[in-house]
Order: sequence, then C-alpha cells, then structure tokens
Amino acid sequence: MDLLQALSNRKSVRAYQSTPVSREVIESIFSKALRSPSYTNSQPWDAVVVTGDKRQALSERLYALAKDNAPTQSDYPNPKSWPAKIEARTKTHGAKRFQALQINRDDVQARTEQRLMNFKFFNAPCVVFFLMDENLSTWSLTDIGMFVQSVVLSAHAHGLGTCLQASLANYPDAVREVLDIPSSRKLLLGMSMGYPDWDAPINQYTSERDPLEEFLTIY
Ligand SMILES: Cc1cc2nc3c(=O)[nH]c(=O)nc-3n(C[C@H](O)[C@H](O)[C@H](O)COP(=O)(O)O)c2cc1C
Repeated sequence: MDLLQALSNRKSVRAYQSTPVSREVIESIFSKALRSPSYTNSQPWDAVVVTGDKRQALSERLYALAKDNAPTQSDYPNPKSWPAKIEARTKTHGAKRFQALQINRDDVQARTEQRLMNFKFFNAPCVVFFLMDENLSTWSLTDIGMFVQSVVLSAHAHGLGTCLQASLANYPDAVREVLDIPSSRKLLLGMSMGYPDWDAPINQYTSERDPLEEFLTIY
C-alpha cells in the first residue's frame, strides 16, 4: 500500500470480523513500526497485545467496571477543560458518529450500549495496550505517539483495522492486574485491532477535518 494513500484512507474501525490475527501478522505489524524515530534513539515504547482467553477475561473485567460507572482512575487524566475550538470538534464527532448509527440524541440506552462497545473492543480479536515507564516524560510521550501512529499505519497496510481508545485507559489497575504488569508501567492508551467488518453501519462513518489554514502557518 502506498504511504500517501494509507495516510488518506485510514480511519478508525469500530466493528470487526471474528477472524483471529496470527502471531506472525502481529509481529510483522510491530516490526515495521520499530523504525519510528525517538529522542536520542531511546525507543521508549512498550506495547502488550492481548488475544484469546486473556482478551476475553480483560473485556469482561473492563466492561463490568464501565457498566457500573465505576470511577475512572486514568494514569494520565483528561484536561479539566478543553479550548473552545477543540471542544467543538469533539462534539461534532460525537454527534456525527451517533447519526451514522441512526441513534437519537435522547436515546440514552442506545448511546450507553455504543459507549460500552469500547470495552468489548468492538468485537476485535486483539487488543493492544501502549504503556510508558513512570520515570519518562513529555519527550517520550511524543516518541510513543509516533510509534502508535506507525503501528496504526502498519496494521492498515497489512489489511487490518484499528481503533485507538482512551476509554481503555480508564481502569489501569484492572488492566495491570489481569495482565500481571507492575504499577511502574503507566497505561497511556488501548487499541482494538482486527480484520474490519466493512458492512457494519458504524464503519460507514468517516470523521471530518478542519482545513489546512486552521493549523498551518508558512512564513
Ligand atoms: C488518543 C486517542 C483516544 C481515542 N479514544 C477513543 C475511544 O475511547 N473510543 C473511540 O471509539 N475512539 C477513540 N479514538 C478515535 C478517535 O475518535 C478518532 O481517531 C477521531 O475521531 C478521528 O477519526 P478517524 O480515526 O476515523 O480518522 C481515540 C483516538 C485517539 C488518538
């Protein structure tokens, strides 16, 4: 797959086929992402891929917490407020996503079910967690962000879909407990990964982007 084409047509996938992803394919995806740049070549990334029974156990644990509205305790919490322009984009995204599923604004049950699909990993056979050592800071966060994008594009080039999910970082202690991960490895982000179900209505949704002039200054 051509890189420019991949950059243009990648999108988040929120419905998957049950087809498992082989270890060979998982390793191939991550091995290509290893060429990502990092500050002084520190390569601070740390990823855990979960499949099979462990994936199921983890999904059940996270789903139960989310369903009960257990208080979230993310290692890296959201900002208390967003700049207005940025918040407006998040609201547009939320509204358009529900429109794609023909879910009304006031249909609380359908909205809740859709939110909870995060914790079923949208039925993807694989879930990935990106972690960061507690002693690292912003530079490493930048490196890991680039690594994550490389993984996403590499998966795309292998014919797989992904959905990055901050929601999967809501209950880091539960994730660490199920996967036997020490508390010094902080949880940044989760990601569902698998072969897309392109017929699913949610996968017909394509998010918008503001025009270049909103972001770019050239002197
Ligand atoms: C850090 C991060 C956290 C995200 N968290 C979630 C999430 O919890 N649930 C979800 O469905 N999508 C999540 N997304 C996906 C975004 O909604 C998506 O990337 C954005 O709307 C742009 O759409 P696109 O990826 O289809 O281009 C997240 C993306 C990022 C980068």
